[in-house]
Amino acid sequence: MLRPEHIGQEVALCGWVNSYRDHGNLVFVDLRDRSGLVQIVFDPECDADSHQLARTLRCEWVIACEGKVRARGAGLENPKLDTGQIEVVIHRLTVLNTAKTPPFDPDTAEQVNEELRLAYRYIDLRRRSMQKRLQVRHRVTKIARDYFDQQGFWEIETPMLGKSTPEGARDFLVPSRLCKGMFYALPQSPQLFKQILMVAGCERYFQIVRCFRDEDPRADRQAEFTQIDVEMSFVTAEDVMTVNERLIARVFQEILGVQVPLPVPRMTYQQAIEEYGIDRPDLRFEMKLKDISDIAKACSFKVFTDAVQKGGIVKGLCAPGGGKYSRSDIEKTLTDFVSDLGAKGLAWFKVAPSETRQGLELKSNLVKFFTPQQQQEILKRFDAKADDLILMVADKPAIVNKALAPLRVRLGKELGLIKENDFRFTWVVDFPLFEWNEEENRYDSMHHPFTAPIPEDLHKLDTDPAHIRSQAYDLVVNGSEIGGGSIRIHQPAVQAKVFDLLKITRKQAEERFGFFLKALEYGAPPHGGIAFGLDRLVMLLTGTDNIRDVIAFPKTQRGQCLLTGAPSEVDPSQLQELNLRVQRHHQEPKNQAEMQ
Ligand code: AMO
Ligand code: AMP
Repeated sequence: MLRPEHIGQEVALCGWVNSYRDHGNLVFVDLRDRSGLVQIVFDPECDADSHQLARTLRCEWVIACEGKVRARGAGLENPKLDTGQIEVVIHRLTVLNTAKTPPFDPDTAEQVNEELRLAYRYIDLRRRSMQKRLQVRHRVTKIARDYFDQQGFWEIETPMLGKSTPEGARDFLVPSRLCKGMFYALPQSPQLFKQILMVAGCERYFQIVRCFRDEDPRADRQAEFTQIDVEMSFVTAEDVMTVNERLIARVFQEILGVQVPLPVPRMTYQQAIEEYGIDRPDLRFEMKLKDISDIAKACSFKVFTDAVQKGGIVKGLCAPGGGKYSRSDIEKTLTDFVSDLGAKGLAWFKVAPSETRQGLELKSNLVKFFTPQQQQEILKRFDAKADDLILMVADKPAIVNKALAPLRVRLGKELGLIKENDFRFTWVVDFPLFEWNEEENRYDSMHHPFTAPIPEDLHKLDTDPAHIRSQAYDLVVNGSEIGGGSIRIHQPAVQAKVFDLLKITRKQAEERFGFFLKALEYGAPPHGGIAFGLDRLVMLLTGTDNIRDVIAFPKTQRGQCLLTGAPSEVDPSQLQELNLRVQRHHQEPKNQAEMQ
């Protein structure tokens, strides 16, 4: 990158024409490479040939040139450019390649429709912001590799063509040519292989690894994404958290200069749900949820009393300064927001100085259902101040939390409670081992079936599975889960018991992961690990909420690569070789692969 200290030096530059201004006697070009922009000048007095050629240059042409760095004339500096103090007077120019007029200008691509940007990704990636993100991604993986190497970890590759691992999502399948009728599954994670590496005595493993989950992509989810995957032997959950939070602290320090206070605080799952309604709380602002079921059950608002009577709860939050929301903001915009999340309504109370006595009072269409004493209890529960807005939802706990958690984040953003460049980390621990699956009438693993229960709760495997806590931990930053892991079950008997509760029969377990259960029988050490979502980590570090911004060649919501056109039809001969036939349904245009 050229700076004033280079003034007087001869330099050779290569890059792309970002823009040009032809003043007749002088031609100015902003030349771009991945380090940024520099102004180059063509002066006929310096070199008539280059000047002549420079007048033919167009945007995005690729050039090489040689010249001398000089200070810009007084008043002609450009403070917006890192190189704005200087320019390079060129005395030799070579056009390395011309370019078609690009479908959009990389400088203004931010405003261009994303589909067009993805189709011409090579132009989109020329943008400075995109190059910066790619560079940050590179630096994160480099820091991780160096860190784990220093800590005695080995990076070991595990197969991409494998057998289905039960991370809970749909598999991407790959048909086998040699074993007709058989399929590989692309790994949803290297979970079982990394555990087997512990049985194999590797002790400390990591891998920066692509994972594949056939789920619908979202803003923070791609079907193909990357994990920083870690496994360690002879460790406790504390050991795994300590080693890994230090990596994250190093990444934030080196990339952003942000110091992450260590140890990262631990919060139980129960506390996260009670206070934030979600297991990945955004701790950049307070606004904790409060349960007011005890007050609500004694009021005369039927919605509340009915909810509590049916075993539900009434919970709410107090938005500081939320008094600025108008009645229609609340009854339309905010109520629609929670309705879309499954709530049946949104009760609201504005907090105002009392008109009749000292102190505060509630104002709402619902106050008539609460005695003055109950109103005061509500104000006290929320520690409310004048001009606050208290919002409540009554329903089953799961519905209440599902509505209030995103409402809290929305209000936090809208009320300006979130500071820029503030990163609040927490480990969420003591997750339940299982969650009840109503539809299937069985338990599901909250994390995955190889997660170990905490030793004090082991005895509940037979009597009270719903209340077993697991040795799982998630690392959460600003409401985003960037990593999760656990101590694993290493005793075959406990593993068999867990499969029973998941209603995975011995036969199914044998078919699906018999190879793994067998390995556990050959001297499996106690072990545990974690996986970070690299994409999500880079999103946080680069301040974007679109996962496609941190992946060089991402897929769309429909899982398509607009650059290459994948997925696409294949040659019939390829299908024949694989013994596959594509069945076309008239009503349903989607392709469905079917075995012959
Ligand atoms: P888990 O399923 O929690 O754990 O994944 C670990 C981390 O990977 C990231 N992640 C994703 N990122 C982008 N797109 C996706 N579709 C996606 N899915 C997950 C998240 C998440 O925290 N084998 C276990 C880890 C272990 O137990 O060691 C696992 O895969 O940031
Ligand atoms: P309604 O009885 O439907 O006229 O509702 C009266 C008020 O209570 C409205 O502000 C609703 O949004 C609110 N409300 C209705 N159901 C619920 C609920 N389950 N939780 C919280 N507020 C509710």
